[in-house]
Amino acid sequence: MNYHPSLPIFSPNRPTRNISILKNIVVFASGSGSNFQAIIDSIEKGDIEAKISGLIASRSGIGAIERANYHNIPHYVPSDEGSESSFSELLISKLVEWSPDLIVLAGFLKKIPSEVIEIYRNRIINIHPSLLPKFGGKGFYGKRVHKAVIDAGETESGCTVHFVNEHYDKGDIIRQQRVRVSHDETPETLAQKVLKEEHKLLPNVIAEILNKN
Ligand code: GRF
Repeated sequence: MNYHPSLPIFSPNRPTRNISILKNIVVFASGSGSNFQAIIDSIEKGDIEAKISGLIASRSGIGAIERANYHNIPHYVPSDEGSESSFSELLISKLVEWSPDLIVLAGFLKKIPSEVIEIYRNRIINIHPSLLPKFGGKGFYGKRVHKAVIDAGETESGCTVHFVNEHYDKGDIIRQQRVRVSHDETPETLAQKVLKEEHKLLPNVIAEILNKN
C-alpha cells in the first residue's frame, strides 16, 4: 500500500489517543463575581473537569467582567432595552454559540426568560445565600436576605444550590451548607460568612454534576 509517510493512517485497529472533550459552562453574573472566580479557580486546580465558554453579564462595568477579561473568557451583555422577547432571543443566540452543558447563575439579578429555562431545563443552577425555601423569592437578594434572617431571630443560615425553574428560588434543591448565626451578627458579617461557604459549595456541586461522565 502506498501512503505518504507524514500522513496519519486511520485504521479501526490502530490504537488512538483518548481524546476527552471538555464540558462547557456558561456563568451569569451581576456583581463582583467572587463565585465566578471560585469556579475559575476550581477548574485551574483540576477539581472541575470543564471549561467556561463565556460569561453573561447583566451590565457592563461589573467586577465579573474584569475577572473574565483577566482569564481570557469572552463575555456578553445582552441589551434589555428592547422587548422581553428580544432579550430572550439575544440570550439564546449567544448560548447556542457557547453551547453550555451547564449554566451557572452566580449572583445574576435579572429574570431568566422562560424560553431559556425551557431549552436548558435541569441544566441551569443557581446559588442563593440562605437556606431555601426560607428567605427566597422575589426581593430576597444581597444584604436584604441576611438582614431578614437576623430580624427573624434565626440561629442558623447558609447557602443553597438549586435547579432553576420558572419561579424565583423555587427549583429543586441540590445541596445546602449551614452556618451559625451568632448573637452579635450583622448583615455584613453574615454575608461574609455565607459567601465563604458559597465559594466551596458551588464548585463542589458543579464538579458533582459535570465530572460524572
Ligand atoms: C452571592 O451572595 C450569591 O449567593 C448571590 O449573589 C451574590 C453574588 O456574589 N446570588 P458574587 O458576585 O459572586 O461575589
